[in-house]
Amino acid sequence: MGRIFVAGSINMDVVATAERHPRVGETIAGSAVLYFPGGKGANQAVAAAKLGAATTLIGRLGKDAFGQELRTFLAAQGVDLSFVKDTAEAHTGTAIITVADADNTIVVVPGANAMVRSEDLAAPVLARDDIAVSQFEIPLAAITVFFKQARAAGATTILNPAPARKFERELLDLVDILVLNETELGFLTGRELRDSDERARFLDAARSLAGKDRIVCVTLGKRGVLALVKGEPLVVAGREVKAIDTTGAGDCFVGALASQLAIGSNLRDALGYANAAASICVQRMGAAPSMPTAAEVTHLLGA
Ligand code: RIB
Repeated sequence: MGRIFVAGSINMDVVATAERHPRVGETIAGSAVLYFPGGKGANQAVAAAKLGAATTLIGRLGKDAFGQELRTFLAAQGVDLSFVKDTAEAHTGTAIITVADADNTIVVVPGANAMVRSEDLAAPVLARDDIAVSQFEIPLAAITVFFKQARAAGATTILNPAPARKFERELLDLVDILVLNETELGFLTGRELRDSDERARFLDAARSLAGKDRIVCVTLGKRGVLALVKGEPLVVAGREVKAIDTTGAGDCFVGALASQLAIGSNLRDALGYANAAASICVQRMGAAPSMPTAAEVTHLLGA
């Protein structure tokens, strides 16, 4: 069984709930302020660990109260933190989130996440069955080093290019599986894409990122998942649920997908499992604390 190494951000999510989002320049009354462990890297690591995978997180925290709280939380979820460093030069990453009507807005202040160095990511030793996972809330140069090392070891690399930003071909060439939503796909391919678009439009855009062997998985929320595998589409149907907070759902999908590939599941089964896991995540408040257990996903898939 392979291990999972997630290189990424660790944030404290400061969440304000309200009946609707404020317009620019407007002040509205909220209903609650909540503090949830988050950050795309931490969320993906928690998802994988709760689903039973041996998971190591690589990242940085500030030497402050949020940092201590996050370290305690992540350890309690079974995430190996031997490669999470404390740094005195910056505060712990913080995300300011508003949640209204199940939708969110997020402003991330990277803090210690921006201090992740290539040396941090060169430290862990990966093996052939392992899976290396990353996203875009830490410096891209460090991710490139991490994936080069993973490739040299024969491990599988999964990139979730979120939040979307332009990146070098060198990094894309190191990616085995690209997981992104329609907004990120639109941004990276320079196309206007909406979640209501025909599948053919997504496939066409995905093709430009796929290259020869790269798998591209487009997560489409309640419409499910569309993957492009060796030029052929693979469709996983969506699950109708009543979402209350979609924060971290994409991270849940990525962590769950990695957890299944690490135990040797085929891609179709792994995508179906990840889709089911994400459908549980959206029915709970918060990012990392809303990740499901293996028993919950198995129960849903058996139902
Ligand atoms: O993907 C959701 C995450 O994005 C939140 O937990 C927040 O911290 C931001 O990184």
